[in-house]
Amino acid sequence: MNKKIIKILIKKNKKKIVCLTAYSKSIAKILDKYVDIILVGDSMASVLYGQKTTHQISMENIIQHTLSVKKGTSKCLLVADMPKNSYKNKKQAEKNAKLILKKTGCDAVKLESNSKNFKILETLVKKNIPVMGHIGYTPQFKKKFKIYGQTNSETARLLNEAKLIEKTGAFSIVLECLSPEAAKKITKQLKIPTIGIGSSLNCDGQILVTDDMLGISGFYPKFVKKFANLNRVIEKAVKKYTRDVKLRKFPKTNNFLHGTKFRK
Ligand code: KIV
Repeated sequence: MNKKIIKILIKKNKKKIVCLTAYSKSIAKILDKYVDIILVGDSMASVLYGQKTTHQISMENIIQHTLSVKKGTSKCLLVADMPKNSYKNKKQAEKNAKLILKKTGCDAVKLESNSKNFKILETLVKKNIPVMGHIGYTPQFKKKFKIYGQTNSETARLLNEAKLIEKTGAFSIVLECLSPEAAKKITKQLKIPTIGIGSSLNCDGQILVTDDMLGISGFYPKFVKKFANLNRVIEKAVKKYTRDVKLRKFPKTNNFLHGTKFRK
């Protein structure tokens, strides 16, 4: 088994697992120093491409951005989302997962659960493709952004779904927008780590969309804590630049390349 995955697995019940998303080398380089897992999420649909849903994200998008992120990643586990419609059957899923791994050098793929596609996850695991599952709010399959697992019966259904995903051999599972009670029950009963987003402290790890927690995406549901307000920082810098260009204060002589000796 991939050593980076073993490092994640042994954190269960001991240390929290820290995860964030990245879509580019420059951000990945910063995250790599601190986090355990970087996910190249199909959340790039709204964050980068201004799309309403994740459904238009293509294999090319995921491969291109994962390649970039890989260049900034050395220490942490790199997971790429499989786009909607790229894993509709076992054969297609295997072909596309292999392509993502081969072309990008990432460590694992994440597949959203539609409550039926367990055999597809199992096929990938059997082919030695490390798989992360994803339940609760799964934007590729569910329209409704709400808290899942608010009743005993729904919690029981989610627990069953999580157990079936564990049975496929997946090494971890994202719990998105689950009630604290459901997250607690699932985290307690699974041997594999759970990674929460909007699912309370009752998970083995946490993930956020980096652009959200940096205050740059414009999408801030209650579960997103803004750890910075980069919008403000960037705006300030752009304003300063605009002023300096207009006032002919930029570029100064030390910003000229003129006179620089380049190595032949
Ligand atoms: O696409 C994504 O960024 C995700 C995370 C929100 C878990 O799936």
